Amino acid sequence: MIKSSGRPGVDEVSAPRQLASCGSEESALLRKEELRKLKDKILGVKTLPLRESATQLVFGEGNPNADICFIGEAPGRFEDQQGRPFVGQAGKLLDKLLGEIGIRRDDVYITNIVKYRPPNNRPPTPSEIGAFLPYVDEEIGIIDPKLIATLGRFSLAKFMPEGKISKVHGVMQTVRWNGKTLHILPLYHPAAAFRRRAMRQALEEDFRRIPHILSGHWIRNRICDGGSQLGESQD
Ligand code: URA
Repeated sequence: MIKSSGRPGVDEVSAPRQLASCGSEESALLRKEELRKLKDKILGVKTLPLRESATQLVFGEGNPNADICFIGEAPGRFEDQQGRPFVGQAGKLLDKLLGEIGIRRDDVYITNIVKYRPPNNRPPTPSEIGAFLPYVDEEIGIIDPKLIATLGRFSLAKFMPEGKISKVHGVMQTVRWNGKTLHILPLYHPAAAFRRRAMRQALEEDFRRIPHILSGHWIRNRICDGGSQLGESQD
């Protein structure tokens, strides 16, 4: 697990009007079907924690061919009511931040590390997170995004258990996962950005890196070299 240094790209946003997603209509249909099966599988697991207290499952949503997948913490009240991730206050901010870099919500995939709402929005416990991890892994495997943006410390911990969000936010990370190389952009959780002005600024600044990361050489080089250059900083 390594990280790159520096933050070039912060000031050089020329956001695409629409994010190009890799993959054909056929692959989108296949992925959609795989996601549907995964959702049904989760719905069938009666022993999953939080299931009894939640209103419903909040599965991921968005473009199955998305280049970028956002992973949050757990559904809140509005997500629990509507059965969709990030539709409350934090979701509105997420939509706004996406809009500001010229990306539509429909172009990305959005999900959570825990898929039932914890009572009173308390933080999920390690065992609750652990129970959902195999399904999150499957979800990521289906979407196979170029970039994973973690929102908050819980989803960051999935990929970097020792990572401190205050240190690594906005800094590209490369991790090995299930034999693959994943590119992770750790971000503050949008809900935290409501509480602290500095976090809001950091989140906006980190978001502005996304078009640069997706369109630039950073990811292309790492996808082509199969991760063999892990450790290099090459933004
Ligand atoms: N916070 C999250 O982490 N996920 C949601 O879906 C909503 C709020």
